[in-house]
Amino acid sequence: MAEHSKGFRGFWPCGYQISACFPNVCLGRSKGLKSATAFIFFTFILIAALVNWTDIDYSIFEMISAPPRNNTKKHHERIVFPLNCSEPGSPQKCLETYPTSFEPDEPSSKTCPDYFRWIQEDLKQWKSSGVTQEMIERGKPFADFRLVVVEGKAYVEKYRKAYQTRDIFTIWGILQLLRLYPGKVPDLDLMFNCGDQTVILKRNYQGPNATSPPPVFHYCADKDSLDIVFPDWTFWGWAEVNIMPWDNMLSAIKKGMQRTKWENRVPYAYWRGNPYVSVERVEFLKCNLSNNHDWNVRLYRQDWSKESKKGFKNSKLENQCTHRYKIYIEGNTWSVSEKYILACDSMTLVVKPKYYDFFSRSMVPLQHYWPIRSKISTCRDLKFAVEWGNNHPKKARAIGKEGSKLIEEFLAMENVYDYMFHSLNEYAKLLKYKPTIPPNAKMVCAETMACSEQGLFKKFMEQSMVKSPSHKLPCSLPPQYEPHHIQSLLATNEDITRQVETWGDEYWRQ
Ligand SMILES: *[C@@H]1O[C@H](CO)[C@@H](O)[C@H](O)[C@H]1NC(C)=O
Ligand SMILES: *[C@@H]1O[C@H](CO)[C@@H](O)[C@H](O)[C@H]1NC(C)=O
Ligand SMILES: *[C@@H]1O[C@H](CO)[C@@H](O)[C@H](O)[C@H]1NC(C)=O
Ligand SMILES: *[C@@H]1O[C@H](CO)[C@@H](O)[C@H](O)[C@H]1NC(C)=O
Repeated sequence: MAEHSKGFRGFWPCGYQISACFPNVCLGRSKGLKSATAFIFFTFILIAALVNWTDIDYSIFEMISAPPRNNTKKHHERIVFPLNCSEPGSPQKCLETYPTSFEPDEPSSKTCPDYFRWIQEDLKQWKSSGVTQEMIERGKPFADFRLVVVEGKAYVEKYRKAYQTRDIFTIWGILQLLRLYPGKVPDLDLMFNCGDQTVILKRNYQGPNATSPPPVFHYCADKDSLDIVFPDWTFWGWAEVNIMPWDNMLSAIKKGMQRTKWENRVPYAYWRGNPYVSVERVEFLKCNLSNNHDWNVRLYRQDWSKESKKGFKNSKLENQCTHRYKIYIEGNTWSVSEKYILACDSMTLVVKPKYYDFFSRSMVPLQHYWPIRSKISTCRDLKFAVEWGNNHPKKARAIGKEGSKLIEEFLAMENVYDYMFHSLNEYAKLLKYKPTIPPNAKMVCAETMACSEQGLFKKFMEQSMVKSPSHKLPCSLPPQYEPHHIQSLLATNEDITRQVETWGDEYWRQ
């Protein structure tokens, strides 16, 4: 191992970590070459500085000041297990070669981000009663599939066809979690709904004769529902509309946003999407530029079927960081577009949402986004927000930056997997029985799911596949929120939002 690591030092090309090898290690075969390199390097910086100081890629300075990388740090040998499909035509079997346990490099782990504290809050409903098999069964009418994990293997029973391939990519994601932390995900039995609408409504489980609500996992919830929120399918890709797995998509967006500096972006608020999923979105289109009004917004209709015929040329998310402001507005319920919109470091204008997903409750107005009222005040609030931002460019930029930083940190795939792990782990603790494999369930694994896929579906699965176990433990769960924590979080957000609304009202009174 040690020898293997040592070899790296000479192996890295110089540009990769200039600080470790500059000026006399990396290219230092002869003294002449050394000083020549140093001379060329400094000349380059000098010329760059004289020609156009502001356009220098700052990463070059970061490279110089970065601390030397310690390559002697020990890592367990990482063996990768790529997708291995059997001969076409022969039945696809789950391979037994993937490790069934893993060994972290370090015994401890860092604390998870604060938004993980909502996990226990979402499960609070079942804390005293626990979850019985009877409760699970009652969730069946609301579920698209049931997923059971027994001894590290996953089994799925499908109840009905989900929209597009939401169920397939959701199950795929859970399989990747099992590959990341083999042997660590406990036995469990859960129901999953892949639709837009919330399914476990509080009002159906109230009153003296009410039954206890069945626990059902879903992508979103609101104050009137008890759905347990879980990361949506797009983290592993949305093949129907050519949206890559999140890791790939995020790097593409980050590259795209560097193409236009904030100051040079169009000084209006941008939105592109399908308006025909909710009355609110159709209403919202009225804020678009017309002969009578300019509310400082530019809205574009996304016709997915037309786009798919044209190869999605106009809908690439990485090409949509062109405006200083971007708008998030809910669709039918929550919208997966939120993370892509926030990822551009433009300031996001969030039209007051009703639903939340697994991370959005930890977003703070004026820190990560600018709050906009829904319904009749929307156009006026949007115009004011853009005007404010153009008059306070530094502050608007800072909000945009904080928003995209939050997305990058909160939604780093390792956090998404850790969130899934803790959500499932805390849920499994509530089960009052030992899960068994349902008679109609089928075992699923990477091979059974991905080998039969084609085109983008297969490509996205290969891209998002976890190819070897983690070398780290999942992060450790911070303590559960106390009721007063949640109250003060909500109160703070409401105060800030009201402040912004007051500014808006004052602006329009003038
Ligand atoms: C690199 O890390 C190893 C183990 O973490 C340590 O023993 C060693 O002293 C470090 N070397 C340097 C140059 O910092
Ligand atoms: C794929 O799996 C087969 C067993 O089904 C094994 O013999 C073969 O070596 C594997 N190939 C790779 C590249 O891992
Ligand atoms: C609850 O059940 C009892 C006994 O079956 C019945 O008399 C009563 O009307 C029910 N109450 C409600 C609110 O449904
Ligand atoms: C909004 O206005 C812009 C500029 O006039 C136009 O290009 C665009 O098609 C309009 N969007 C919709 C949804 O009508």
